[in-house]
Amino acid sequence: MPDYRYLLSEREIPKVWYNVVPDLPAPMSPPLHPGTLQPAGPQDLEAIFPHALIEQEVTAAQNIPIPEPVLDVLRMWRPTPLHRAVRLEKALGTPAKIFFKNEGVSPAGSHKPNTAITQAYYNQAAGVKRLTTETGAGQWGSALALACSIFGMECMVYMVKCSFYQKPHRRTMMECWGAKCVPSPSDLTQAGRKILAEDPETPGSLGIAISEAVEDAATHHDTNYSLGSVLNHVLLHQTVIGQEAIAQMKLAGASPDIVIGCCGGGSNFAGLAFPFVPEKAAGKNLRLIGVEPAACPTMTKGVYAYDFGDKSGMTPLLKMDTLGHDFIPPGIHAGGLRYHGMAPLVSLLHRQGVVEAASYPQLQCFESALTFARAEGLIVAPETSHALCCVVDEALKAKEEGKEKTILFGLSGHGHFDMAAYEKYFAGELFDYEYPEAKIREALAHLPKAS
Ligand SMILES: Cc1ncc(COP(=O)(O)O)c(C=O)c1O
Repeated sequence: MPDYRYLLSEREIPKVWYNVVPDLPAPMSPPLHPGTLQPAGPQDLEAIFPHALIEQEVTAAQNIPIPEPVLDVLRMWRPTPLHRAVRLEKALGTPAKIFFKNEGVSPAGSHKPNTAITQAYYNQAAGVKRLTTETGAGQWGSALALACSIFGMECMVYMVKCSFYQKPHRRTMMECWGAKCVPSPSDLTQAGRKILAEDPETPGSLGIAISEAVEDAATHHDTNYSLGSVLNHVLLHQTVIGQEAIAQMKLAGASPDIVIGCCGGGSNFAGLAFPFVPEKAAGKNLRLIGVEPAACPTMTKGVYAYDFGDKSGMTPLLKMDTLGHDFIPPGIHAGGLRYHGMAPLVSLLHRQGVVEAASYPQLQCFESALTFARAEGLIVAPETSHALCCVVDEALKAKEEGKEKTILFGLSGHGHFDMAAYEKYFAGELFDYEYPEAKIREALAHLPKAS
């Protein structure tokens, strides 16, 4: 009988973050200033980020030491367990070995606290009193609320309107940790008021919520902005996941042929997959697959171009896979995957063929989530169900081909606050959204003119 779980001790938490930049097959394109369209310097980010994080954003060092106070908080739940999904393998009748790294055991329920704790730490050390942010599914907002409560800071969260009403308990959770959470667009910012005037019924989007949170930070002197994905430093903080997974796969005497993670802004996938990039670069036959919703197909149907990170064009322009900053995805339940862009690092590796992209419709994702829940007992977040859908697909392919593949996937979050989504699925009230080709074309027509 194989073991079900592979555990590391607290002392075995990685002591450095792994930076993929020195291992990139092509150089990164620099971010551009939104006004001048010239390369943005560190000074352009100083209004909203502390110096230490800006340094991490641009560093080419391979390993960045994790400060002791950050390690001390991460120890509350890290290292997270690596599981072998033996019962799922049986349920699928596959010869594939399936492993998963469970980030759902963090206090906020997902991978997001890995960077929330780190960002709160650096901001507090720089004398910042209050952090603002956006949240889609509520996982990021609750992670930052937790982090701010640990480091004694105020926290203001702009939550995408459709998710705010789909998941009222996420707001309560943020309030338990002392944060304030409002539906976005709100009437608290100019950006929010403008969008509400144009379309009072808008479901909101991460791009809109980012505009609000950035404006709030830029107009309050004691306040900084904190982003839960996309930027290099955020991806960096998540690499504890993949480093632990490498050590745990060794304990299991296995090595993955396929690494799979769902992609919103890309930090969950990058956290698990990037530490495997050196092995792949050294010639190992290893597939790294980022999975996104068919309703928000950033990598599979978007273009690789400079675009704003937010709806109002306040952020620097990033070279990334994008559907256009005007794109408002349908109100699918995987709220954390409704973002128009993909992390520049993930996009570059995708365009260079190091990372593959796949997309799945939400009904098939829920089906896979239930197969998993009934085999392994764990109920995953709708975001995570996208990774699972790809896992099931690959495991069934392995069965057809009679191949003994080893698959590793990221269980990025539990779904305990997503019962409304499961309820709708059972009631037959969830639908697959057609790829809104015309809407994407329209949004892409508004890409900023930068090459
Ligand atoms: C459970 C869960 N998984 C994955 C994601 C996507 O994360 P990322 O933006 O890091 O790709 C989110 C985002 O909110 C999430 O809540």
